[in-house]
Amino acid sequence: MIKLSDAAYEIDGQPMFKVLDKVQKLEREGKKILHFELGEPDFDTPDNIINVCVDALKSGDTHYTNSMGLFELREAVAETTFKSRGFKPNIDQILITPGANAIIYFAIRCLVNMDEEVIVPDPGFPTYFSAIKFCGAKAVRVALKEENQHQLMADDVRQLITDKTRLVIINSPSNPTGAMTEQKEIEEIYKICSDKGIFILSDEIYSRLVFKDSSEFFSPSMLDFCKSNVIVLNGFSKAFAMTGWRIGAAIGPEHLIGKMGLLLQTVNSCVSPFIQRAAIEAINGDQSDVQTMKEEYSERRKILVSGLNSIEGVRCAMPKGSIYAFASVSGLGMTGEEFSDFALEQAGVALLPGSSFGHYADNFVRICYVNSISNINLAIEKIKEALKNRGIK
Ligand SMILES: Cc1ncc(COP(=O)(O)O)c(C=O)c1O
Repeated sequence: MIKLSDAAYEIDGQPMFKVLDKVQKLEREGKKILHFELGEPDFDTPDNIINVCVDALKSGDTHYTNSMGLFELREAVAETTFKSRGFKPNIDQILITPGANAIIYFAIRCLVNMDEEVIVPDPGFPTYFSAIKFCGAKAVRVALKEENQHQLMADDVRQLITDKTRLVIINSPSNPTGAMTEQKEIEEIYKICSDKGIFILSDEIYSRLVFKDSSEFFSPSMLDFCKSNVIVLNGFSKAFAMTGWRIGAAIGPEHLIGKMGLLLQTVNSCVSPFIQRAAIEAINGDQSDVQTMKEEYSERRKILVSGLNSIEGVRCAMPKGSIYAFASVSGLGMTGEEFSDFALEQAGVALLPGSSFGHYADNFVRICYVNSISNINLAIEKIKEALKNRGIK
């Protein structure tokens, strides 16, 4: 086999796809599986968004656009940022991207040199680790501890900063924990980073999925208005049930956003105009479907968490946002991986082990509440039954 580039051998991708392979194999064998593994809303995209896309296609909006994104969409992003975060970024601070995932790679590529360091929450979204490794940089993992309600603690970040630190990633609400980091910790992290000239990538893809009974959403962008060292990552996949549309938005300092735009131009040329028209409708159009989905997630979350806590040996805190619950299974005498295999094989319930998200959550599993309340209840029953058959009550 002819050798590839050194960087090609550093690409890890997303470990959850391995679990998906296993699940699909069992389904091919005729086993019925209840799905809680992928962070993919089970709702379809709201009709008003689809209709705008279809109209755009029919009216010939099918050509290349500005690589930075349609002016009207960037304007809509600026307005919604003003409403939600209290500042209105300039158009040149906004880049429309093919999905939010791409922002992680674009930002790291434009900010971090080989051998420099990025502080990353662990457990965290796997793309962070994969993109850092591919860029030849070093992921410095900061453990999100259960005793701190899985928050990113400023003191922990401070201790990991070196002369090589270029970037700190914050993700609140978090994938995979559903936890939110309190304002005072974010303010402190911002202060530490600003003093040392370090960038912050704030992954806010779940910012519209903060539940009513949770703390207020807080973004470090409210402190610097994305003018000096904060980059906001946002996307349409989760809150608007638009995972397959592939569209996101980055807000950051103009000189960085300009370079990220050139990288996007090199790799993608631009984002499809009819998708961008749909995204304008998602932001500015009727929000009732979005609200209904959020209320449904909130209900499911409560039922799931109370079901999980009714299993002896399982412990799960109430998620404040996102679509994930993160449960400790150490009381069952199993690791997260052992429990995930057990739940899949013995109960027909697919979920993900904490080890898919880093090194510091081996005793946890992530369960996405992207399945109906009746299926959540059924899954809990099946897990209980399987544990009973195994001799654990
Ligand atoms: C924390 C986090 N950031 C970014 C993304 C990427 O989202 P997108 O579908 O827009 O690429 C995800 C998707 O699961 C996520 O969980």
